[in-house]
Amino acid sequence: MTSFPNIDRAVQVLQSGGLVAFPTETVYGLGADATNDRAVARIFAAKGRPQFNPLISHVANADTAFVLGQFPPAARALAEKFWPGPLTIVVERSAACPVSLLASAGLSSIALRVPSHPVALALLEAIGKPVAAPSANRSGRTSPTTAAHVRRSLGQSVDLILDGGPAEVGLESTVVSFLDGAVTLLRPGGIARQALEEQLGTKLAKAESSTLHGPGQLESHYAPRAALRLNVTKPDPAEIYLGFGQYGHGPYNLSPAGNLVEAAANLFSMLHLADAQGFARIAVAPIPPEGLGEAINDRLIRAAAPRPRQL
Ligand code: TXA
Ligand code: MG
Repeated sequence: MTSFPNIDRAVQVLQSGGLVAFPTETVYGLGADATNDRAVARIFAAKGRPQFNPLISHVANADTAFVLGQFPPAARALAEKFWPGPLTIVVERSAACPVSLLASAGLSSIALRVPSHPVALALLEAIGKPVAAPSANRSGRTSPTTAAHVRRSLGQSVDLILDGGPAEVGLESTVVSFLDGAVTLLRPGGIARQALEEQLGTKLAKAESSTLHGPGQLESHYAPRAALRLNVTKPDPAEIYLGFGQYGHGPYNLSPAGNLVEAAANLFSMLHLADAQGFARIAVAPIPPEGLGEAINDRLIRAAAPRPRQL
């Protein structure tokens, strides 16, 4: 028995190859048994996601991750410092790794994360298997930070949604790879680059876009329906404004106090809210590039990028 409602049912759904959306501290994930190829394939179908995008395998603790992947000492040190938490570590798969190759998009590497949300941890402990989970939204759309966002974006295609309240960090995990002897920041996220560099004692290489195996390959990502205009201090009357700090016009301000942690937590939910007002364009205030501002600007730039036609 577990102390959160529906965990036992969620385990049954996952064991039988179904999809469970679950809360993490970053965003909601769309989970499947990572060792079941057909279940993993259902994730791609539900998201309408291009197949070349590899998924993160979520596990209950670092020791489980250390069995699935080959962790060099520096990767172990990061894991021990930042797990459970919004950090994803990409390493070579271990020889006995049972995770579906489809989850790794055919790569010899694997992305691993121990989330800190108590409901996610309860689920992972109860199932005792890695759970592959991208963010629980249609591909290219804004990431979900509440169960309602998941329902709206994926509705019918998910078998069960575990509601754990609004996601606390509100921004996906930071993805760091330890491949070919280099330590590379593949995606800025919930843990700021500076915190990682401090622990590593070295600077993180920034991935060239050609080596990114993920949303970096897709110019447009995280996109709301409305168009986006960035670094705007004075919105046009036809725009709905997403403010920050001193720049505030109208009801939406990512952080009136100019706090980047608060802004990260509010980013996706306010994009959802602003988008729902029906304006053709959302104008966004300038966000300083330091700390979590790096990840916030990364998401905003992708959300503002020219859209592929199917969006
Ligand atoms: O916070 C998060 O990371 C959320 C929650 C649900 O855990 N998940 C998430 O998953 O954002 P997704 O699929 O939207 O993003 C996974 C990221 C992508 O940037 C992908 O390219 C990268 O992880 N990734 C996964 N496996 C990889 C691999 N083998 N090599 C390089 N990058 C990988
Ligand atoms: Mg995503």
